[in-house]
Amino acid sequence: AQPKSIFLKDYQQPAYWIVETGLTFELQDGYTDVYSRLQLQRNQSLTADGSLRLDGQQLETLEIRIDGRVLAADEYRIEGDSLFLSGLGENPVLEIHTRIQPEQNTALEGLYRSGSMYCTQCEAEGFRRITWYLDRPDVMSVFTTAIVADGSRYPVMLSNGNCVADEILENGRRKVTWHDPHRKPAYLFALVAGDLLCKEDTFTTMGGRNVALKIFVEPQNITKTEYALDALKRSMRWDEEVYGREYDLDIFMIVAVDDFNMGAMENKGLNIFNSSCVLANPATATDAAYQRIESIVAHEYFHNWSGNRVTCRDWFQLSLKEGFTVFRDACFSADMHSATVKRIEDANIMRTVQFAEDGGPMAHPVQPDSFIEISNFYTVTIYEKGAEVVGMLHKILGKDGFRKGTDLYFDRHDGQAVTIYDFVKAMEDANGVDLTQFRLWYKQAGTPVVSASSEYRGDVGELHLTLRQSCPDTPGQTAKKAMWIPVQMGLIDSQGNDMPVNVSPAVNADGLATWTASSQVLHLTEAEQTFVFSGLTEKPVLSLFRDFSAPVRVEMQQTDDELLFRLQHDNDGFNRWDAGQRLMLNWIAQAERSEFELPAKARAVLAGLLADSTLDAAMVSYLLTLPSEAYVSEFRDVVDPQAIHLGRKRVRLALAMALKDEFAACYQRLLQHGEYRPEPAQMTARALKNLALSYWCEASDAGLNMAMRQFETADNMTDQMAALVALVNSGDAELAQRSLDAFYQQWKQDVLVVNQWLSVQSGSAETGTLEHVSRLLSHEAFDWRNPNKIRSVVGAFANQALCNFHRTDGAGYVWLADAVIRLNATNPQIASRLLTPLTKWRRLVPVLSALMRAQLERIAATQDLSPDVYEVVSKSLA
Ligand code: ARG
Ligand code: ZN
Repeated sequence: AQPKSIFLKDYQQPAYWIVETGLTFELQDGYTDVYSRLQLQRNQSLTADGSLRLDGQQLETLEIRIDGRVLAADEYRIEGDSLFLSGLGENPVLEIHTRIQPEQNTALEGLYRSGSMYCTQCEAEGFRRITWYLDRPDVMSVFTTAIVADGSRYPVMLSNGNCVADEILENGRRKVTWHDPHRKPAYLFALVAGDLLCKEDTFTTMGGRNVALKIFVEPQNITKTEYALDALKRSMRWDEEVYGREYDLDIFMIVAVDDFNMGAMENKGLNIFNSSCVLANPATATDAAYQRIESIVAHEYFHNWSGNRVTCRDWFQLSLKEGFTVFRDACFSADMHSATVKRIEDANIMRTVQFAEDGGPMAHPVQPDSFIEISNFYTVTIYEKGAEVVGMLHKILGKDGFRKGTDLYFDRHDGQAVTIYDFVKAMEDANGVDLTQFRLWYKQAGTPVVSASSEYRGDVGELHLTLRQSCPDTPGQTAKKAMWIPVQMGLIDSQGNDMPVNVSPAVNADGLATWTASSQVLHLTEAEQTFVFSGLTEKPVLSLFRDFSAPVRVEMQQTDDELLFRLQHDNDGFNRWDAGQRLMLNWIAQAERSEFELPAKARAVLAGLLADSTLDAAMVSYLLTLPSEAYVSEFRDVVDPQAIHLGRKRVRLALAMALKDEFAACYQRLLQHGEYRPEPAQMTARALKNLALSYWCEASDAGLNMAMRQFETADNMTDQMAALVALVNSGDAELAQRSLDAFYQQWKQDVLVVNQWLSVQSGSAETGTLEHVSRLLSHEAFDWRNPNKIRSVVGAFANQALCNFHRTDGAGYVWLADAVIRLNATNPQIASRLLTPLTKWRRLVPVLSALMRAQLERIAATQDLSPDVYEVVSKSLA
């Protein structure tokens, strides 16, 4: 039977609630016994007749008791992933003994082994691989968990909440019991057992509660915990200051594990992290890694309120917690570093990855109305677009209005499992606004297109700006309605200053102020609206969608001169970058057709930016970074990856040559002396310095020599890695290999560094990369069971250098399909994620399109497709 879709409209409450959950885990070699004791309560709102269906997967069911009585084999029924019981009373106690095999669990969902430790991943539906349960987020229960194991091999045994007992049993085994007083759904359950070391600290909450903070790692990683611990304290303080949210247990734990499908997981009081998202020291982690760690630590911590205290009613509401929490962590990062740079980074992800998802076969609304496999919906749409939608509420309601809304939301729904509707309702009620139209952002998939046209009437000093919006069809959705789109904007005079804005109509059809001086936001709510700006003494340059104020594509006619002017003068940092990207897109299109030379005017502006030490260096590094090949593809009806690659390469070389001396000078100016610290000021300087190095290398041997020197002498991974990337992409194959070998010899003991080493090779744009990467699969450093390594090799190859993945003989597609088919059998979540690049066949040039489609069909024809892979493949071919 083919896997079936489930629908939001079919939501029903469960027949029983689970008031209390008692679990005992007997960890033994080869298998684990799980004893559960569930105190059930009939759901009076349903006319339940005492029948109950529980979820379970790959469980060996050894015994079931109801109110102490063992059920005979004909008193229950197991069918597929369901256990059916009947004739239950009002408040039955259900006891179940199951046996599972964590050692054999390669899917990394439920209880599994990573190295020598046990750990869990239960979101979204992993708990059903542990025991029979109502594995759905609206069933919230108080958990007590006992772990029984050989205490010498597993000195650390953890679960959620507080440790309430620690005893040695008669048989010599150790039993540790944890109790979590907060009701929670099963997806927030966690268990860890292993031989781990712990780095400790404390935090005093604003209410005076002393919280023990502990990070548990394998012994060799104990020197890599400090940064995450500091980031955790900053996050706890920030959530108090900005949202008034305080931590609610006496202990907060983080555990680092090497084998993990995702980044991290917010299990109550016991967050589990992919080791790559928590471990760092200067020698082995790049600045980018430090920033990722800080934001993920914050993200998981913030979930304690936005996710755990207030959780989701069902998985269609996933963005309720993820979109909101990503918005929260983004604001946190903006506060810790540069707000402009953070905005550029997030918009970049939206415009490349999310817009592509919105335009492809897997397009779905922020609140989907159906899915086959929920694991496939941990997407950039749910996370990042969801965060943008929350961000628009913030723009519309303002900082204080937004905070009133979140206060009401947390107060009203504390301890509940709720919906996206409830979140928006709290915003409405707290502010007395009607967000009916705004809710379309959650319901309509696809990226709206806003086109702007304007006319300046010098005689009367007016600018007439007409904005039109439309939204393309997406699978299952046509004829979309106009949305409420906040357009943050400004008018720039010839000196580069913002002009005073006088706009009419002052209020729109809903009685909404179209623009206020404090928000500087126009509210576009109709398919077409014209705004008239008056009192102008000269023709302004328009700056629309400042700060990426809405996740839309913006079409407007601006000349290269106007774009260059905004790159230099726009008072919004994000829009400076956006103007530069538009300009560079024009250059790339031009360079695809013929050789390219950097225009003199542009050269002067870019040189000025490089030399201007008053600017935020990280921002400048983004201003000088060309749009990625993936982003360029977004502007083409038919994508020719090889042509785009060529065009971009030509522009890059032209920039490198024209600004050779400026890049060299900039590099020299930003060289740092003294001790490396992962702090904002140093990080931004390194970002620009290494960008300058990468261009300089391309332009001259002096640059290349400098890269070699930096590679050999760097005392931190940011600099060493930047140099390695430059050398690997230098076009000198011998130099590349020599550098890679040296690097491996230096770092082969460190798994995380080796993973970076793998991905530098797989992501290289040099020819021969596919052959090289194929050989990496049999390197001692590679392992098909470890998701980080798969991402570093297979993921990097398929997503970074598009010229290699899209080889004209189709060999890149075959290679990726082979990997997907192999992983389908062992780790369906990872297999399904790797598929994404193959879903883009429709927009490719005909030859490539056919080759790619053939590989999707080959995957579709594979025996025993997991629901994960089946869903993506079938939707892509439909
Ligand atoms: N809730 C986690 C986070 O955002 C991610 C869990 C992902 N799990 C999954 N099965 N895809 O931090
Ligand atoms: Zn999350």
